Amino acid sequence: MTTTTLRNRLLALEAEPPKAWRATGAHSRPNLHGLLRYPAMMVPCMQGDIIDVILDHKPRHCRVLDPFVGSGTVMTEALMRDLNFTGIDINPLAALVCEAKAAIDAGADVEGAAQTVLSRLRLDVCEAIEVDFPGRTKWFDDESAAKFSILRRAIVHVEDKGARKVMWTVFAETVRLCSNSRTSTYKLHIRAPGDRVAADRVLQTFETNLRQSLVRVREYRALIKARGDKRPSVRIICDDARKAALEWPAADHQLLVTSPPYGDNQTTIPYGQFSYLAMRWIPEDDLPGAGATQLMANTNALDAASLGGTIRGAEEKEAALRAASRHFDAFVQEAERTDRKRAIRKVSSFISDFADALSHMRASSSGTAHWVLTTGNRTAAGLTVPFDAVCKDLVAGLGGKPIASLHRELPSKRMPSRNSQGVMITTETTTVVEFS
Ligand SMILES: C[S@@+](CC[C@H](N)C(=O)[O-])C[C@H]1O[C@@H](n2cnc3c(N)ncnc32)[C@H](O)[C@@H]1O
Repeated sequence: MTTTTLRNRLLALEAEPPKAWRATGAHSRPNLHGLLRYPAMMVPCMQGDIIDVILDHKPRHCRVLDPFVGSGTVMTEALMRDLNFTGIDINPLAALVCEAKAAIDAGADVEGAAQTVLSRLRLDVCEAIEVDFPGRTKWFDDESAAKFSILRRAIVHVEDKGARKVMWTVFAETVRLCSNSRTSTYKLHIRAPGDRVAADRVLQTFETNLRQSLVRVREYRALIKARGDKRPSVRIICDDARKAALEWPAADHQLLVTSPPYGDNQTTIPYGQFSYLAMRWIPEDDLPGAGATQLMANTNALDAASLGGTIRGAEEKEAALRAASRHFDAFVQEAERTDRKRAIRKVSSFISDFADALSHMRASSSGTAHWVLTTGNRTAAGLTVPFDAVCKDLVAGLGGKPIASLHRELPSKRMPSRNSQGVMITTETTTVVEFS
């Protein structure tokens, strides 16, 4: 297949998107995709369909990388296609969920682990609270913390580490549903008293989640049966993508498929705040990466360590970025003209960090590679940030050729902003890039 045919096939997908791309609710997250509701998840079948078209063009592509892997949407789609996979994420909870999914793929005894946990839950009458951290009583009152402690004591008894990580994933989903933080926002935001989940629903919620997860595991295993005895290799790296790609040769890839954050976590999606409560309950030995203690030192630590988390050096970074991207330069000019330059420092910082990550990725990729980048244009200080166009400038600067962009309307994604009016992202763009 020539590059022109590849472009035409991708554009045909955009012109007539398969119905499944618009699915909502449970149908949009089949099998392992639905284990944990992580923020800003991709549409699994859309990424899978795009991967299939690229594989028709390059059947020898067999190593996939997602440097911002999140809960592993791309990972699951890659493994179902028998492709070797490397995922990177700075967030220990995201990396743990990916490791849980990898363990399911590798055949971990999840049913046995579930039996161990369920039988221990029934016997445990202890009322001790197993963890404490600043602000614990705000998010879990004593009664609820005692129930989560029962779950924790049961899960630590699961011997197989992979299967135990599946149990922690179910636990994290239970924390999302039953803590005193609202489920309607990814920020830690206290629920109104009438909206809180009673402590006596915690164990029942966990059990329901666990049973649904077992169905998902069976569904996934039936799907990968066609692979036979072959098992793709999986590597999950819990680290900053900017250094991970340099330090880990496993980041070598022919296909990079990812959705980076829309901007810095504090003013877009606070993945760290979303993950904080669950991480405080999970024993550190089970959290991937070396920096979990620091990253959960407070509710902001992980977000501050993520892309764009600091504005230190923002001016120098901005100057370099203006030279590398004409769309970014035009954006800054507009901010200068309208006296909003200071207000966009976080944007400059975020895009510079992202550019840094991309150049590391390119350095670790094989000569011929395809990249699939799904991005969204946020607003900052009332200006639309042309992140899609900036991305194209950046990949072109690395020698890549953008061959097609697919646009998709989004169900509304509201994000916290400083003045708390909310910033909306209404469309997402998926750009396919070829490096030859
Ligand atoms: C849009 S989310 C990815 C969601 C994923 N596609 C999914 O479907 O679940 C972006 C991810 O980038 C991660 N991230 C932010 N800064 C990072 C960094 N410096 N290095 C690696 N990952 C980072 C966040 O933790 C978050 O999980």
